[in-house]
Amino acid sequence: MPAKAKNPHVPFGDQQTAPWYGKDILTVKQFSRNDLEYVFAVAHEMRIMVERIGTFDLLKGKILANLFYEPSTRTSSSFMAAMQRLGGAVIPISEVKYSSVAKGESLPDTVRTLGCYADVIVIRHPEVGSAALAAKHARKPVINAGDGVGEHPTQALLDTFTIREELGRLDDLTVTMLGDLKYGRTVHSLARLLTQFNNIKLNYVSPDLLRMPPDVKEEVADKGIPQAETSVLKSVLAKTDVLYVTRVQRERFEDPDEYEKVKNAYVVSPAIMKSAKKRMIVMHPLPRVTEISMDFDEDPRAAYFRQMEYGMYVRMALLAIVLGKA
Ligand code: NCD
Repeated sequence: MPAKAKNPHVPFGDQQTAPWYGKDILTVKQFSRNDLEYVFAVAHEMRIMVERIGTFDLLKGKILANLFYEPSTRTSSSFMAAMQRLGGAVIPISEVKYSSVAKGESLPDTVRTLGCYADVIVIRHPEVGSAALAAKHARKPVINAGDGVGEHPTQALLDTFTIREELGRLDDLTVTMLGDLKYGRTVHSLARLLTQFNNIKLNYVSPDLLRMPPDVKEEVADKGIPQAETSVLKSVLAKTDVLYVTRVQRERFEDPDEYEKVKNAYVVSPAIMKSAKKRMIVMHPLPRVTEISMDFDEDPRAAYFRQMEYGMYVRMALLAIVLGKA
């Protein structure tokens, strides 16, 4: 369950008894299977509402501060779109160089400030633990939109929502994670989150340099989930239900020569995908560089563009849930 609620002054009309009201979202470890079912049900409703009427006033009068210290296209714009589709407003701070951060302001002071003006704060930052630090100092709920190589919980929620919408289930799945499993925070969160479901098998396919970190593997093993590690995609592809491809995270390498060695380690192509099941999906958090060839995009199994759309519905659900309006 989430930690202590914030929002000392409860605005009129907020459902403060709702379990996630005023809570931070920092890690996928906060979510039980019941919580997940709830988020997915709300996200599904959001999808239907957007398809029917586009924008509606569930969060009218609420303000989101969108604080990005690292580049982002999808996460940042889908949070903004989510808030605006729910009738709320956004303070976008994606160029921290134009904010007081450039004058040397600390993260705690920046989030203290935003907590005075906004009802919820979304933060992306290059350091592991930054979202937790922000949450400690903010009066309002903080949502982690990526803390360095740590976690990206809202991405894992949208990834699992995607699997559910696309394959109709979250149990009985073989999920193969491919690429940069060392620095890719999305796979750290997704592997942890998948432990909530039944009969999951995880395959980790990466160059030796980019293996899944031992702490994540230990947590997954503690939940009794079988994990297999290899460098060869072919050996596991035929049994895969979800192929989750990641970009080699160039910005996280200390040694540029190491990046050069592994940057083109895998390219998913129509030829390779011939040996995969007919009913399976290929996902990617995006941005893609070269790891999925563009001529695979028209294949019905290519779910990555649909996945980014599901992201907005999940973020609408999360905003509504922490603001007590779901
Ligand atoms: C990911 C991230 O920022 O971790 N992008 C995203 O949020 N969709 C993946 C990446 O940058 O490769």
